[in-house]
Amino acid sequence: MTSSPAALSFPHRHLLAIQGLTAAEITLVLDLADSYVEQSRRPNKKSGQLRGRTMVNLFFENSTRTRTSFELAGKRLGADVINMAVSASSVKKGETLIDTAMTLNAMHLDVLVVRHPESGAVKLLADKVNCAVINGGDGNHEHPTQALLDALTIRRRRGDLAGLTVTICGDILHSRVARSNIYLLNAMGARVRVAAPPTLLPTDIDRLGVEVHHSMKAGLADADIVMMLRLQTERMNGRYVPSTREYFHFFGLDYEKLKAAKPDALIMHPGPMNRGVEIDSLVADDINRSVILDQVELGVAVRMACLDLLTRDQLANAA
Ligand code: CP
Repeated sequence: MTSSPAALSFPHRHLLAIQGLTAAEITLVLDLADSYVEQSRRPNKKSGQLRGRTMVNLFFENSTRTRTSFELAGKRLGADVINMAVSASSVKKGETLIDTAMTLNAMHLDVLVVRHPESGAVKLLADKVNCAVINGGDGNHEHPTQALLDALTIRRRRGDLAGLTVTICGDILHSRVARSNIYLLNAMGARVRVAAPPTLLPTDIDRLGVEVHHSMKAGLADADIVMMLRLQTERMNGRYVPSTREYFHFFGLDYEKLKAAKPDALIMHPGPMNRGVEIDSLVADDINRSVILDQVELGVAVRMACLDLLTRDQLANAA
């Protein structure tokens, strides 16, 4: 018997990473997210799956898309959502990450969404609390819901991820988005390439199951999907590229470089974009090729699915 997505459960207490998820688990999230897209498009966007539940967004780094879409996702499912302003919290008085988490935990939360500049910090915190924890991005480690929303965007345009050639371009070294996407795309049977200068590749790139290219022409040859990344200067100590002008010349996506990809290749970017640095404005705004705003829209649906699945399991455990 084939189970509907709503009948299946997600066998994890937290969502901390894509690494370790199976193709079936990823598909479960994407199928459920698909069913939430329509809900966000209708005039009455509310339902009650999380009614009575409490969710806190705890972001130690800036965010527009992730924080707002988690807030919308929680509210659309009927949860009480609190956005903790870290800059106005007792973190500024020296309270540690763990003490902050334990304090929030004592208030009987159901879901805690955390973004933190240190890789591994969200896992550390998840080990200490009773509620479900979702990683909203930790250092250069992982950003699992970004990879899931990217996958949903591709799947809705191309039907399937398996067999597609996806090229991730730019600052791979500092990118948790790249890492989560590499794990997810490999799990789903896509062919993954990276195109970047050697200075912007992690030392373990050979172990990640990707083809490595140091030129956009070779990296983009016949690609189905072009995923551009921002230069994450906030994580850089030192110079990784001679200048942004030279970087754009060699690695910025413009129509000339895009010619190497398939004629209908989709252009993606997790945001925030730095126009004229990693992507030309004309390409970013090309309504026939760019799916950057689709990614934003689908981010809400994916986060609704994650919240639904993680709290569904809480009910089962409590029963
Ligand atoms: N893509 C992404 O994580 O964007 P924000 O930093 O705005 O959340």
